[in-house]
Amino acid sequence: MNQTWIKKNDILENILIEKLVFWWKGFARLSHENPDLDGRIIFVTWWAIPWTVANLRVLKKKKAFLETQIVDIVKKSDIEVENKDNLYGMSGWWKWINIPYKNQLEIKQEQVLESLNNITKKFGDINVLPIEWSPIVNWYRNKIEFSFGKYISHKFWVEEHFNVWFHKQWEFSKVEDFDWAPLIDEIQNEIFRKIKSFSKTIGLPVYDQMKQNWFFRHLLIRKTHFTNEMMILLSFNPEYFDDKPKLNKSEKLTLIKDFFIDLSNEYEVIKSIYFSYNVNKSDTCIWDLELIYWKDTITEKLLDLEFNISPTSFFQTNSSWAEKLYSMVLDFADKENLSNQTVLDLYGWTGTIWMIFAKAWARDVTSVELVSSASKDWQENAKRNSVDNMTFVNAKVEDFLDTYINDWKKADLLVIDPPRAWMHPNALPNILKFQTNQMIYVSCNPTTLARDLEYILENSNYEIEKLQAMDMFPHTSHIETIVSLKLKS
Ligand SMILES: C[S@@+](CC[C@H](N)C(=O)[O-])C[C@H]1O[C@@H](n2cnc3c(N)ncnc32)[C@H](O)[C@@H]1O
Repeated sequence: MNQTWIKKNDILENILIEKLVFWWKGFARLSHENPDLDGRIIFVTWWAIPWTVANLRVLKKKKAFLETQIVDIVKKSDIEVENKDNLYGMSGWWKWINIPYKNQLEIKQEQVLESLNNITKKFGDINVLPIEWSPIVNWYRNKIEFSFGKYISHKFWVEEHFNVWFHKQWEFSKVEDFDWAPLIDEIQNEIFRKIKSFSKTIGLPVYDQMKQNWFFRHLLIRKTHFTNEMMILLSFNPEYFDDKPKLNKSEKLTLIKDFFIDLSNEYEVIKSIYFSYNVNKSDTCIWDLELIYWKDTITEKLLDLEFNISPTSFFQTNSSWAEKLYSMVLDFADKENLSNQTVLDLYGWTGTIWMIFAKAWARDVTSVELVSSASKDWQENAKRNSVDNMTFVNAKVEDFLDTYINDWKKADLLVIDPPRAWMHPNALPNILKFQTNQMIYVSCNPTTLARDLEYILENSNYEIEKLQAMDMFPHTSHIETIVSLKLKS
């Protein structure tokens, strides 16, 4: 096929996927063996494993590359592995589950190095430490949210009317059905199965998001790692009963409650159970909450501090890694003079990292976060851990910095942990104005990290002391990186 004639929906045959780029896209090139083809770059979207040979459908044709999707696998990659139920990476957020963990780490390290290419070309070599791997690889998630729904496909003759699992990727109206979910532990899975079997027996239907009607909606399970406490939340639509006078609402709800109370008697780990009376038209799980069993929060412990987790709390989804991440940030920081210093924690979320810092080292810490509900968690956690040298500012970092600098306020150490998408362009120049001896940048996106580092190195006297990637989310394409920047003396 002459490449000039390649168009949308064409099938490119026998293409070798060479590697993964931009986190999870496959990278390939049109074969050089075919004289009509010219090595043009191909990205394979949705899902790919390096060294797979596949037939690809062209989704988009751009000047510099083709965007494609796998239609058939011609030859499986030698590194591809199977797992229980052979759940494929294609079907969920565990995109890399069919890649051995050792290879996942190599790919992540390589992606970080590649993202730094421009910087090393301009500023010379960087001290990049080997990637830090996750202590738990297969069942690290402390929070999971299942959906109830149907899977109807007339095209493929599928009619499943009561499914509980996750939405089919890219097809929101369909919910798939498995008795097991990756990335959570066996107890979470066992309890999930029990709740699922019970829900099928009591004669109430799953919610239909398209029609915005019917009953069962979501099942949220949170389980702390260090303290072994579980919270369960069942979300359902109470209005389902409104036009069904023959159905006894209170009888049905009592049946469900009784089941959950029995479940909590059977499993000591269960410390908290909520109902979410959910009449919200959008697909959120938390609505009008009723605590039906015991504690209103569960408690996780990180580095000897306790954190209360409510159904709405923000909390890192991998507790064992959160502890490791925070220890690494502490290790990266020069703690010598910190007891007289002011730390600015930018993009602080619930301020967890710096609560640990405030308690142990710093004179005072100011944590800045956009989402106002995070401040409630912060306040409760600060009180619980007797941290009184920390302030939480609910603001946009870019606005906060403007005011803070105009008020001639100082900072001695900056820690920056921006969202995946970006750091506001106004924030970067302001960050440089403090001229702190050290800045610690924690990033969940190597691409924006590289862009910001390039700006910092180009516009200041900072240099990169060290940089280390961390695998906080095995089987996914996410990469965390910590960087220590120091002012050149
Ligand atoms: C990667 S998370 C920070 C995680 C946190 N440092 C921790 O360790 O738990 C990024 C945070 O930035 C917040 N955020 C996003 N845009 C912001 C802005 N313009 N100003 C302040 N916070 C923002 C998000 O709400 C989110 O909580």
